[in-house]
Amino acid sequence: MSEQGISKRQAVLPEESGILVIGLGLIGGSLLAALREAGYKGRCYGVDLNPNEVALGRRMGLIDDGGADPAAFLSRVSLIVLAIPVMAIAPVMAQLSRLRRHGQIVTDVGSTKSAIRDQIRAGIGQVPSWLVLGHPIAGAEKSGVEAANPMLYQHHRVILTPEADTDPGALRRIEHLWRVCGAHVEQLTVERHDEVLARTSHLPHLLAFSLVDTLARQDDRLDIFRYAAGGFRDFTRIAGSDPVMWRDIYLANREAVLEALAEFETGVSELRTAVAGSDGDAMLGIFSRASHARHYFDRLLSQKSYQAMETRNVVYRAGAGGQVRGNIRVPGDKSMSHRSIMLGALAEGVTTVEGFLEGEDSLATLQAFREMGVAIEGPQAGRVVIHGVGLHGLKQPKGALYLGNSGTSMRLFAGLMAGQTFDVTLTGDESLNRRPMGRVADPLRLMGAVIDTGEGGRPPLTIRGEQRLAGIDYDLPMASAQVKSCLLLAGMYATGDTRVREPAPTRDHTERMLTAFGYPVARHNDVAHIAGGGSLRGGFIDVPADISSAAFFLVAASITPGADLTLEHVGINPTRVGVINILREMGASIELLNEREVSGEPVADLRVRHAELHGIDIPVDQVPLAIDEFPVLFIAAANARGTTRLRDAMELRVKESDRIKAMADGLDVLGVVNTVVEDGIDIVGGRYQGGEVESLGDHRIAMAFAVAALRAEGDITIRDCANVATSFPNFPALAHEVGMQVEAVAEGA
Ligand code: S3P
Repeated sequence: MSEQGISKRQAVLPEESGILVIGLGLIGGSLLAALREAGYKGRCYGVDLNPNEVALGRRMGLIDDGGADPAAFLSRVSLIVLAIPVMAIAPVMAQLSRLRRHGQIVTDVGSTKSAIRDQIRAGIGQVPSWLVLGHPIAGAEKSGVEAANPMLYQHHRVILTPEADTDPGALRRIEHLWRVCGAHVEQLTVERHDEVLARTSHLPHLLAFSLVDTLARQDDRLDIFRYAAGGFRDFTRIAGSDPVMWRDIYLANREAVLEALAEFETGVSELRTAVAGSDGDAMLGIFSRASHARHYFDRLLSQKSYQAMETRNVVYRAGAGGQVRGNIRVPGDKSMSHRSIMLGALAEGVTTVEGFLEGEDSLATLQAFREMGVAIEGPQAGRVVIHGVGLHGLKQPKGALYLGNSGTSMRLFAGLMAGQTFDVTLTGDESLNRRPMGRVADPLRLMGAVIDTGEGGRPPLTIRGEQRLAGIDYDLPMASAQVKSCLLLAGMYATGDTRVREPAPTRDHTERMLTAFGYPVARHNDVAHIAGGGSLRGGFIDVPADISSAAFFLVAASITPGADLTLEHVGINPTRVGVINILREMGASIELLNEREVSGEPVADLRVRHAELHGIDIPVDQVPLAIDEFPVLFIAAANARGTTRLRDAMELRVKESDRIKAMADGLDVLGVVNTVVEDGIDIVGGRYQGGEVESLGDHRIAMAFAVAALRAEGDITIRDCANVATSFPNFPALAHEVGMQVEAVAEGA
């Protein structure tokens, strides 16, 4: 035997001296085929009551020997797999528990687990520690050993349902068995397994059997089958499965299946009502929620993303040098995109949005409203149509609302949810779950809301329904548009007036958009004021390009010799133009062309050309007006003559990352001299090298360092960049279009 042969055999189940499969059908046969394919060289035996199956198993090379009685083979094996119908397991287990030898372990493949466990307990008094109950989630409409397929388990899940006293060594061996076949092994409790399978497998099979049976019994069945196109075929494929096996499954998992069926009946009767009443909005709400879930359920399951984004992490390779020239339009404003969905959903009538940002953050808001029963069409090429349900028309979502990375969603939702009649829990990804929420929970409690937070005022937030809110006068302790907006939105549901005083002006999109929806918000100096009890009227919203995304290109062009770039249709709301003011003060050449107003917001095309920049002390009043743009402004500072000083920017420490620290760490790698203080940083401009930096999963840190590469003396590698999709999904493509050399590659590629 060759060296290679020995090592391969040792890698495949070294602990198993022989394997016995009891029940030589598709599942048992495929397991043996997969083991053979993987190089298992030990002896394999098969037991089946049907001698033809045994003979076929031999001819196919799956077993070395076989017969009808397990007892004949027990002395020759270390592992026994029960691949027989659920109802037949208990008697075989009784036999095995009498004849089993030391070290022998047993597993099964039954698709319901409680019934098997209960029968074994009834038969032999306990579930033995050497038995590991399991279930490979794989199958086919074909049956019998003839259909054995060595690839059946590749990339499929196998669920093991160990008991508290299952032998850990036995568990490890069974896990290894399935991994060798290419499966992903997971563990659930017996009860959870049965509930999950009732919904994901047993219910759909029941429906498929029923539909085919119903149609097959009609007089015109020949026509129905003749003309059955994709829909009927796709939906009913599984009705071709083994009837006996499925009868046993429903006998065994009766309770969980009945529960799943009752939920389904409620869903169908909702749809029946919608169809009977020609209620297009209700149908659209259900269908769009389902269609979104169907398209994205893998990603939603992994709680990673809402769109076709690589779930693996992404690394940017930003080549040193490059150009910045041309005309581009960056994606829609994130703040306005969120608000357009929120107000559109709560308005009376239909709202059409153009220019919507199809980024992870705003999609999180959109999906959350779908989960609260709002029918939303799109997004498609930035167009979204929202069928508003009115301020009091939301429905309780089925589970917690998952808001991804989006702080804006969570803080604004907190205000909106405080006014609802139902309880709701808001949660997010790892970064969002670290961010402070006391800043919204505290004032909302003053209004009468009942909110539980996680430790230290962090998410998840659970907001209790049915609370009467009363307006308050509130002095914001920090300049935060999110907190201000949260309170104004809650103010719509409160009795009396809500007044919010800000220590410095912050973005006022909420106030402007509420006004555009016919809900007036007054402004007296530093106080925004809303009266409760009004209503919103749906309409049309044109979301301009996001100045926060444009900022990366404003800096890119400013620092690159020969650059001349026009950014089209950018929102230039005075509460957002800090980045333009600061760059101009540093010497940048930025022209505002074609200024106009759309949907109550000022917009312009921005022409930016290369200029020599110099360091400045950033005016404190500009800090809230440029709060999201500092990462890339730090790159401008690194390319400016002299020192740039930022103070009074504590808020940067509680964004998607601690942006002062994240940027300083990266600047250190590049050799840019900087000094960090509690509320800011000093950056000394000059030449800098390339290197590898971490974005810490913060989109704006990632894009800022991609811009830095334009003037670096070496390439910059930026790690952990998948979250750029939260605000700027096509950043690498647009950067490439203007002449930058940014390439997004999957981690490890
Ligand atoms: C936002 C407000 C700002 C900003 C965030 C979006 C908004 O947050 O940083 O990206 O849409 O209201 P703060 O309110 O925490 O300053």
